Amino acid sequence: MRRPVVLITGSSGGLGRALCTAFSRRGWTVVGHARTLAAVPSGLPAIAADLRHPEAAAEIVTQLQGLGLTPDVLVCNAGLGHYGPPAGLTPDIVDELLEVNVWSAIALTHALLPMLRQRHGAVAFISSVAATVPAPDYALYAATKAGLDGFARNLRIELAGQVDVLSLWPGGVRTPMHARSGVPAERSDGWRLAEAASVANAMTDRISARRSSALGIGPTLTRWAGRHLEGLIDLALTRQIADVPDAGPEPRCVLVTGAADGIGLALARAYVATGASVVGVDVDAQRAAAAEAALGPGLRILAADLSERAALTQVSAALLDAGPYDIVIQNAGISAVGAFAESDLAAQRRVFDVNLRAPLQLSVALLAGRGLRPGARLGFLSSLSRYVGYPGAAVYAATKDGLAHFARSLDAALRPTGTTALRIHPGPTRTAHAARYSPDNRREARRMAPDTLAAHIVRALERRERVLIPGLANRAFAELGRWAPGLTERLLKRSLLDKMSGS
Ligand SMILES: NC(=O)c1ccc[n+]([C@@H]2O[C@H](COP(=O)([O-])OP(=O)(O)OC[C@H]3O[C@@H](n4cnc5c(N)ncnc54)[C@H](OP(=O)(O)O)[C@@H]3O)[C@@H](O)[C@H]2O)c1
Repeated sequence: MRRPVVLITGSSGGLGRALCTAFSRRGWTVVGHARTLAAVPSGLPAIAADLRHPEAAAEIVTQLQGLGLTPDVLVCNAGLGHYGPPAGLTPDIVDELLEVNVWSAIALTHALLPMLRQRHGAVAFISSVAATVPAPDYALYAATKAGLDGFARNLRIELAGQVDVLSLWPGGVRTPMHARSGVPAERSDGWRLAEAASVANAMTDRISARRSSALGIGPTLTRWAGRHLEGLIDLALTRQIADVPDAGPEPRCVLVTGAADGIGLALARAYVATGASVVGVDVDAQRAAAAEAALGPGLRILAADLSERAALTQVSAALLDAGPYDIVIQNAGISAVGAFAESDLAAQRRVFDVNLRAPLQLSVALLAGRGLRPGARLGFLSSLSRYVGYPGAAVYAATKDGLAHFARSLDAALRPTGTTALRIHPGPTRTAHAARYSPDNRREARRMAPDTLAAHIVRALERRERVLIPGLANRAFAELGRWAPGLTERLLKRSLLDKMSGS
């Protein structure tokens, strides 16, 4: 009988190495991956690629072909953390965690799907319980794991019956990751960590049985509470503002990304009406000029394509010059819909860059560069998909889940200093964005008007709320998604994915 083949990324140490041992013991052919061949456990077929590099997925496929091996299972295990306050994040740290923890897993899955389909195989993503609770000391890491979860959740629906998509959520495991992430020894010394070998054994069982699972009772309860008791957990883990610095009765300086159209323009209009000066960013210079002409001198828009690295760096510097801000709303977003396996990965990468990389990098620039006034209010446009899923837009959903969770952790980290972060989950909104990506626009008139949504956002920011799901119907649907995710996923599969694919 043919021995099943598993490819495990990040097998130079920690959980990856322990997974290699656990699968080998069960008689699998294990292909180890590390940055260098020498770092793969000896005796295993080995593959080398640095997952920070854009060509890593292609390099891995070529090396697999060279070995003459077709994997039945891909385990996306490689990952790294970062410990410390969000103000200590740098652009390089953001990029490294985004590339290794999220993008490399997306790109490698895309590259290996034809092989995995051939084998009716599985892809398993090693996530973390940090993806489901606010993580003030690990805001970026937790966001990357939430993004990975969002990708897996929606890809699972798309690939049902072809490839099993699994997520595994360990709690703390004794590996070098904590020290490498910068956790001081005096802090981690007090932690109760599970042994890597036993976690790897449990993971191997779950992967062999093709089951997603948290590993252990603690992680299972934490995951459940983080999702089902969201408000309570936020309150418990977030210290209240001790002394709110006075940001003035009305915001004076407001930053809105994607300000020339749709929700962003409605937000700009709302704040200009209060007498604030609004600085916007938008990719379309013509549309920006029209918005400026319509709203007058209260709105100034800088033109930049947020998917381009150089443009993002440049515009971040210009935005810092135009600040500091009382309100920052990271609204710009794009999508790419349709079956992930057949999609153009370059288009998915633009979604990743505009929706996740750009707001994280801009947040880091503002935090490090003193771009925020004391008591600033931050808003992050996620999506209702965080609660109900979005089959047919797995990468979009990943970005929106990652962004929402970043906001959740950021709020927990910053609230004691007076700065707050609101995560915003709009449902269908009457904008060009929704019309462009929806497979069915017959009921466009029933979508929420952008001005109504902007009014909800302005009010929630004013009240320093943590989470906004605007509109009763959206809130009801989100609750359904929280308590009966299988149901909302089936509904959305029928109304979105099946219509997109014409089935
Ligand atoms: N330890 C925990 O408490 C814990 C809890 C929950 C989830 N997890 C997750 O479990 C997974 C494994 O973590 P671990 O604890 O075993 O950490 P680890 O001991 O630090 O191992 C991480 C692995 O990822 C690899 N990696 C990092 N950057 C890479 C890059 N640019 N290219 C290729 N490989 C790279 C590392 O290779 P190098 O040695 O070359 O850097 C190493 O093999 C991660 O996804 C982590 O987020 C861990």
